[in-house]
Amino acid sequence: MRVIPCADRPLHARIEDIDLSRPLSDEAFREIESALARHGVLSFPQQRLTPAEQKAFAERFGRLETNIANRYHEPGYPEMMILSNIRVDGEPIGFEDAGQSWHTDLSYATTMGYTTMLYAVEVPHRDGRPLGATEFASTAAAYDALPDEMKQRLKGMTVMHDFDKFWELMRAEKGSSRPPLTEAQRKARPPTSHPIFLKHPVSGRTVLYVNPGYSVRINELPADESDRVLSSLFAHQVQPQFVYRHAWSVGDVLIWDNLATIHNAVSDYRADERRLLKRCQTLTTRFDLTVG
Ligand code: OGA
Ligand code: MN
Repeated sequence: MRVIPCADRPLHARIEDIDLSRPLSDEAFREIESALARHGVLSFPQQRLTPAEQKAFAERFGRLETNIANRYHEPGYPEMMILSNIRVDGEPIGFEDAGQSWHTDLSYATTMGYTTMLYAVEVPHRDGRPLGATEFASTAAAYDALPDEMKQRLKGMTVMHDFDKFWELMRAEKGSSRPPLTEAQRKARPPTSHPIFLKHPVSGRTVLYVNPGYSVRINELPADESDRVLSSLFAHQVQPQFVYRHAWSVGDVLIWDNLATIHNAVSDYRADERRLLKRCQTLTTRFDLTVG
């Protein structure tokens, strides 16, 4: 395989000369995992995967997570979510609005999310240009660029993350078909706290583990001060120099590291411009996460 880093960004490498439908040696997997830790986002162009092959590759990274709001999944694969704006006889076949604001997958879970993998089956286009890009921002670059005074002040603090924050944000969007969370879904996902700075278990870099989608409170600060600091961190972390925007092609497999990045799905396409992606995500169960 060839790892081709993105020249002008702290994020993203493209991996060529590899067929992900074939079983990977441990050595090849280690090379991919170390590239992922270094680059945060990896793309593998021109792949052709069956659900079984996609699942087999995804679960090399860790325990697969089945989403609690999992209304749409590949038949026979509850851990493979369908993201799509396609409707058949008026009924959605997938989540139509997944990830359409900056967030980190599973930051609200007791065991944090590790990788998310998307496989592009259909990509919307207009005038020959792809739409529905996915944007990523580096949490390590964001930490490095914080003023020393801020690093010292926040060191050792913890942040509360709440699944309901992002769900309600999406529900408030025009045309959202999301129902409110049920009592049972809320109970299954009580707010959870994690350190504000984490040491990445593979790269060893310190990352800023907050995201606008789920982070609701810095526990050690009074509420108004927590609000002020969180807003400034949210603005800081999505500055253009930290961002990579992935323009999709059919056959792309994209993997991102949810400790090393936050992400945002750009919703610039219409209902008749079809988008279909198949998704698997893993948990950080393999790692002992420590404070950065
Ligand atoms: C996700 C997500 C982004 C996209 O799958 O977690 O945020 O571009 N999706 O579909
Ligand atoms: Mn997401």
